[in-house]
Amino acid sequence: AVSFQDGLAEEPKPVAMEGSSPFSGSRKEESSLSIIIVGASGDLARKKIFPALFALFYEDCLPENVTVFGYARSKMTDEELRNMISQTLTCRIDKRENCGDKMDEFLKRCFYHSGEYNSEEHFAQLDCKLKEKEGGRSSFRLFYLSIPPNIFVDVVRCASTSASSKNGWTRVIVEKPFGRDSESSRELTRCLKQYLAEDQIFRIDHYLGKELVENLSVLRFSNLVFEPLWSRNYIRNVQFIFSEDFGTEGRGGYFDNYGIIRDIMQNHLLQILALFAMETPVSLDAEDIRNEKVKVLRSMRLLQLEDVMVGQYKGHSKGGRTYPGYTDDPTVPNNSLTPTFAAAALFIDNARWDGVPFLMRAGKALHTKRAEIRVQFRHVPGNLFKRNFGTDLDKATNELVLRVQPDEAIYLKINNKVPGLGMRLDRSDLNLLYKARYPKEIPDAYERLLLDAIEGERRLFIRSDELDAAWSLFTPLLKELEEKKIAPELYPYGSRGPVGVHYLAAKHNVRWG
Ligand code: NDP
Ligand code: BG6
Repeated sequence: AVSFQDGLAEEPKPVAMEGSSPFSGSRKEESSLSIIIVGASGDLARKKIFPALFALFYEDCLPENVTVFGYARSKMTDEELRNMISQTLTCRIDKRENCGDKMDEFLKRCFYHSGEYNSEEHFAQLDCKLKEKEGGRSSFRLFYLSIPPNIFVDVVRCASTSASSKNGWTRVIVEKPFGRDSESSRELTRCLKQYLAEDQIFRIDHYLGKELVENLSVLRFSNLVFEPLWSRNYIRNVQFIFSEDFGTEGRGGYFDNYGIIRDIMQNHLLQILALFAMETPVSLDAEDIRNEKVKVLRSMRLLQLEDVMVGQYKGHSKGGRTYPGYTDDPTVPNNSLTPTFAAAALFIDNARWDGVPFLMRAGKALHTKRAEIRVQFRHVPGNLFKRNFGTDLDKATNELVLRVQPDEAIYLKINNKVPGLGMRLDRSDLNLLYKARYPKEIPDAYERLLLDAIEGERRLFIRSDELDAAWSLFTPLLKELEEKKIAPELYPYGSRGPVGVHYLAAKHNVRWG
């Protein structure tokens, strides 16, 4: 599924649509795809899933016979669902083009069924409606569980007993959180597997669908200049940074039960770390890649309390505006110790990475929104230009930055001579700014992941052993933080975060990028 082309050439249609897919070639007339969004009345469905489906539909990436069903308890007619989702559909693919006709065409394929999440009878009613739309063709059904996790198993039970496909596949995309520690995650896996085989379960981590994260393996494994440097011999530390410039407003109830470590670090940042640090997979096959990710996760040292610091944002007034503190949210207890910020130093005890600190930092209500991977290289041994950098040689080391968002970019900080007489050095960037090089809009992560699930491509979804390895790494630390009631360091809303984050980095001889 990999092709090579000039970046500005027309993008080919997804490859799996051409070959073995039931939705292409001679079988496409007899096959129908039904996508059922469970929790269709919710925030994620409205903001991400329906718009992603429309973008795929607009780009002709969905099969000819596709139907989209919303399912939730809220009472709604088909028309009301269409009105609701039409608010968030955009013509983002080509803003010059009027995509109104396509939008109408897409909306005509959207339907709604109201039902309880634990009612086999209601799912059987859904099944009847699905069959009617499928019109006797082979049916392929993709359920998207966009609901709170406490009802995942009920839905999977009802869907598999009363609404699964009888003559095609049934797949289920499961949204995070997949449990809140090793035990609850194993229990969830055990329960899901009573009704589904592992290859029917698509555990989504939308960070794996982000363009720059997808590109990580290409950068590493298809450029001679990077892979030889990708080890303790040349890399001093690696940083995974996530920050948001808004708080948990509106999601406080969910967030207080999870905290930033479970919400961001244990999944999004750890997944990126695994891709960054894994050994070369045997092939690009999903199982080969996931095998390598599991290996690297299992080589990681258990997190120690002294290698972690936690913070929580407090209210703050600035420029006549007041920003609420985390505990000002009425759905959050006043004495909550839940971290909204955390930093951690992780280590991979294998030959490639022995002794290299992998630092993670994630926080809400900070001064900026960004997600980045920063690779800081070692000093140049016996640097001839040492005196040009004064005493601070750290400033002279190379740094590779992959800016995941916003403004996707890859840049390498190098030392360069300032043009002119004399010898003055300058820190400069070799810069690949995506919007300058690739004029086409970058697809949203959910588009890529939905398409992969339809095509049965599992590479970007989390396998159960990966999930287990990820939880094993974090669970003892999370328990200790909670049992010892470690108080988070407070930081003002909109600031750069707690100062303790710098002490943690300094302890490992690291300066944050
Ligand atoms: P919502 O809280 O909006 O819930 C989705 C729908 O589920 C609601 O519209 C409601 O539908 C139903 N629902 C809500 N609470 C309950 C309950 N206690 N019991 C039964 N049904 C309930 O969730 P989101 O849309 O925000 O998220 C969906 C899933 O995706 C969650 O697992 C979340 O953790 C995950 N997620 C969300 C992200 C986001 O940005 N929102 C980002 C990443 C993951 P009705 O009442 O009509 O049945
Ligand atoms: C979700 C978290 O998984 O990712 C949210 O639950 C967070 O708390 C979101 O805001 C960030 O995603 P993105 O794609 O906006 O960076």
